[in-house]
Amino acid sequence: METKLIKVNPEKPDLGSIRIAAGVIRAGGLVAFPTETVYGLGANALDEDAARKIYNAKNRPQDNPLIVHISSHKEVEGLVRNMPPEARILMERFWPGPLTLVLEKSNKVPYSTTGGLDTVAVRMPRHPVALALIKESGVPIAAPSANISGRPSPTTAEDVYEDMAGKVDVILDGGPCEVGVESTVLDLTGDVPVILRPGGVTREELEEAVGRVELDAGLLPGQKPKSPGQKYRHYSPKAPMLVVEGPVEAQIKKISEVAERLSVEGKKVGIMATAQTRMYYKTGYVISVGDRNAPLTISANLFSVLRKFDRMGVDQILAEGIPETGLGLAVMNRLRKAAGYNIIKLE
Ligand code: TXA
Ligand code: MG
Repeated sequence: METKLIKVNPEKPDLGSIRIAAGVIRAGGLVAFPTETVYGLGANALDEDAARKIYNAKNRPQDNPLIVHISSHKEVEGLVRNMPPEARILMERFWPGPLTLVLEKSNKVPYSTTGGLDTVAVRMPRHPVALALIKESGVPIAAPSANISGRPSPTTAEDVYEDMAGKVDVILDGGPCEVGVESTVLDLTGDVPVILRPGGVTREELEEAVGRVELDAGLLPGQKPKSPGQKYRHYSPKAPMLVVEGPVEAQIKKISEVAERLSVEGKKVGIMATAQTRMYYKTGYVISVGDRNAPLTISANLFSVLRKFDRMGVDQILAEGIPETGLGLAVMNRLRKAAGYNIIKLE
């Protein structure tokens, strides 16, 4: 298959380009497109065969359900069996935006989209290109992140091309993604809302809107996750990775020691540092992922830094931890999983 790369203006996408991509979706094909979180790999969510193509292109396990993307609040009605009151409050407050709601699915949604579950994950993204594509297609779009399963999620069209060339019909290039980590997946089918995957909308913001919100026990290492996608090794760069957590000074000391030792052994070491710490490292290839005082700069660059280390061919990645407040919860979830839970916790 030949993959067509189409550049689009991220703020004001040209309708001609959107129409080409929408035609592909309607014909049952695959279109990669930018959202405010990461690039998605889209297909008609109501077409079983199209949804199946997504699994093949990504090499994704069949039991890992897809998020259904819509372009207006009212489209959710046809996809779900009932709407709990918190769902309405959260939609009003956070849609369009990086929040995915898990609700009981209607018969309209095929099991191939939900990985055999009776629930469906729905999200209305806020990226103008995503919204225009969904609207012009006239159908809801199922879209996982547009990476090969297990790899870091793509935040640029180049990242998508690296993983998906020859496997998708069209890639819409709308430049880099703003948030850089995926949407928050919130389960609303129980008594209390439960975060299945931390993401772009923070736990603090959710609690301000609807009161108590729990974290799925599966988010702790060693537990069995409820969200099927959380149980696989994920977001992983090619090189082994170690995350060092604890007080910043202790992190710098530990990472420096490990980097020193590995360099002596002739290993190429990549250090994921921050704006505040990068100047303290004397060995290794140091990249600042962002500013500790502005977590959005960190989330925005996280996956692209992992991919950068891959392209550089480093033998080991050493990464600093950040506090788990606000967006830090999603950042640390991705970092720990990327490292396969290879973590040093310092006092
Ligand atoms: O930001 C995002 O959410 C991006 C962009 C493209 O919108 N999409 C994305 O999709 O991250 P994906 O497939 O990479 O991750 C979807 C997550 C998985 O962890 C999956 O298991 C979970 O959502 N999920 C989907 N449907 C679910 C359901 N019915 N119940 C529980 N978890 C579900
Ligand atoms: Mg993904």
